[in-house]
Amino acid sequence: MEWKGLRALWGAHDNLAADSRIAPVNDLPWIPPARIDELLQRGEAVWRAFEARTGPRHHLFVPCDQRAAYEALRRLRDSASTFLEFGSAAGVVTILADWLGFEACGIEIEPWLVEQSTALARQLRSGATFVEGTFVPPDYQDDVQLLTPDRLTPTGGADAYEELGMSLRDFDVVFAYPWPGEEEWLFELMRRHARPRARLLTYDANDGCTVTEVREL
Ligand SMILES: C[S@@+](CC[C@H](N)C(=O)[O-])C[C@H]1O[C@@H](n2cnc3c(N)ncnc32)[C@H](O)[C@@H]1O
Repeated sequence: MEWKGLRALWGAHDNLAADSRIAPVNDLPWIPPARIDELLQRGEAVWRAFEARTGPRHHLFVPCDQRAAYEALRRLRDSASTFLEFGSAAGVVTILADWLGFEACGIEIEPWLVEQSTALARQLRSGATFVEGTFVPPDYQDDVQLLTPDRLTPTGGADAYEELGMSLRDFDVVFAYPWPGEEEWLFELMRRHARPRARLLTYDANDGCTVTEVREL
C-alpha cells in the first residue's frame, strides 16, 4: 500500500481550513490550523537554535515537510494507535501524532533536541514522550555496520527501547526521514524488528510521504 504526493493533498486542505474555526469537510481527525502553525513555528525556532549551537559540527537534523507528515498521519489514525518517530529532532511530527490521538513516542540521539522536544510538548500540552538514545536495536547494530559501513547515520547509543519500556513490535506506525541512500538498512531493521502489519511512513524530499506495510518492504 503506497500513497505518494501527499503534499498536493495538503494544498487543498490548507485552503479549505485556512480559517481555524472551520473543520475540514472529510471525516479524518484534524488539528486546528492555528495550533499547527504555532507548533511548526516553534519547531523551526528549535531547528535554527540547534544549527546555531552546533556551528560547523556535523549533524543530521533536517526537518521533513511536516504538513505532509500530518496529512499522512490523519489517514493512518483510524487503523493505528501507537506511533514512533525515528530521530524525532524538535519533536514536531511526534507532537502532531499525539494531537491526532496516537500514543506517540520519539527517539532522538542528540540530547539537546530531546530536552527541547520534551519542553515543547509540555508547553503545548502534548502528551508525547521523547527519549534519548538510538532507534537501532542493540542486536542489529553490528549487522548495520556490515551491511552499510559507509553510512552517515550513527547507530550506537543508549538503548532507547529499554528507556521507553517498549519494543519496536509495540508500534503500529513508525515514521522515519532516512538519509538519501540509507533506506535499505532501515527497511531491513523494520523487517527484522517490527510487526509485519505495522506501517512504515517515510519522507523523501522528492517523493514526499510514502506508507508501506512492513511485510511489503
Ligand atoms: C533527517 S532528521 C529528521 C528529523 C525529523 N524526524 C523530521 O522528519 O523532521 C534525522 C534526525 O535523526 C536523528 N538521528 C540520527 N541517527 C539517530 C539514531 N541512531 N537514533 C536516534 N536519532 C537519530 C538526528 O539527530 C536528526 O535529528
